[in-house]
Amino acid sequence: MTVSEMQNEILRLKKERDVCVLAHCYQSQSVLEVADYVGDSYGLSVQASKAPQKTVVMCGVRFMAETVKILSPEKTVYLANPMAGCPMAEQMDRDLIEGVKSQYPDHAVVCYINTTAALKTVCDVCVTSSSAVKIIRKLENPNILFVPDKNLGDYVQKQVPEKHLMLLQGGCPTHASVGEKETLLQKDRHPNALLLVHPECRPEVVALADFVGSTSAIMDFAEHSDAKEFLIGTEMSIAEHLQFKCPEKRFIPLSKKLLCTNMKCTTLPDVLAAVRGEAEPIELPPDVLMGARRCIDRMIELG
Ligand code: 13P
Ligand code: SF4
Repeated sequence: MTVSEMQNEILRLKKERDVCVLAHCYQSQSVLEVADYVGDSYGLSVQASKAPQKTVVMCGVRFMAETVKILSPEKTVYLANPMAGCPMAEQMDRDLIEGVKSQYPDHAVVCYINTTAALKTVCDVCVTSSSAVKIIRKLENPNILFVPDKNLGDYVQKQVPEKHLMLLQGGCPTHASVGEKETLLQKDRHPNALLLVHPECRPEVVALADFVGSTSAIMDFAEHSDAKEFLIGTEMSIAEHLQFKCPEKRFIPLSKKLLCTNMKCTTLPDVLAAVRGEAEPIELPPDVLMGARRCIDRMIELG
């Protein structure tokens, strides 16, 4: 089968079997082309509750498929490649957070959506990179334990100085791989380029940026900007997708280290197998479904 024959077979089966394919923007171009919806983590979680189909295939990482299951427990949800996990989501578990909570009972617990469903059950609200500032500003409690991403936490703290954020040592290994020196070198090489970065990047890289935002916000900014050249400080697929969208502009990945192998392990054959139902559906215990739902519902309500 060629790439386009496989894509056509996926499109045919989606209709026949009433399947919705959701894809995170970090997926490869061939996967994005067969998706019903492409977005960042926030967009995907909102879309998950709206999709009318009975089956959802998530092309992304495990916590994203869990979010779909939590919001639509009646649906059959497949993670297109079951090995795609987010390393940051695995860094902290429920026991660790319960331990910290017991030492700081006056803190509200806010988790990034990049966490397991089990961890969400012990948090008050979750946030995505595009909704974190807005939601944390709205919380009544001035003291917040924010997990797991300390870079995103640092960014939020600077935007919301009236709150006190307690941060732990977690983060995205992909975004945190780029340092200040490499960023300055790239800025020197491309003096006319605007630097757009994700808040999962290190604070010293964020400090050099012309724009900071979630994946979708970066894409939106680049598409609508009058500038012609951009250094893209997030997973490198975004530079490629932007190049397809705006061929008259130039998009340069900030670093070749900005590659998430978990996001990239989903292939078109994985999507075909999942659309055929040849995959293991996501299952979560009822107490986890309920506890995590409360946390995600609060995010949608506040965000
Ligand atoms: P957003 O989708 O919120 O931009 O987050 C990026 C990311 O790393 C997802 O895993
Ligand atoms: Fe996780 Fe980072 Fe990959 Fe996103 S880019 S899935 S946060 S490791």
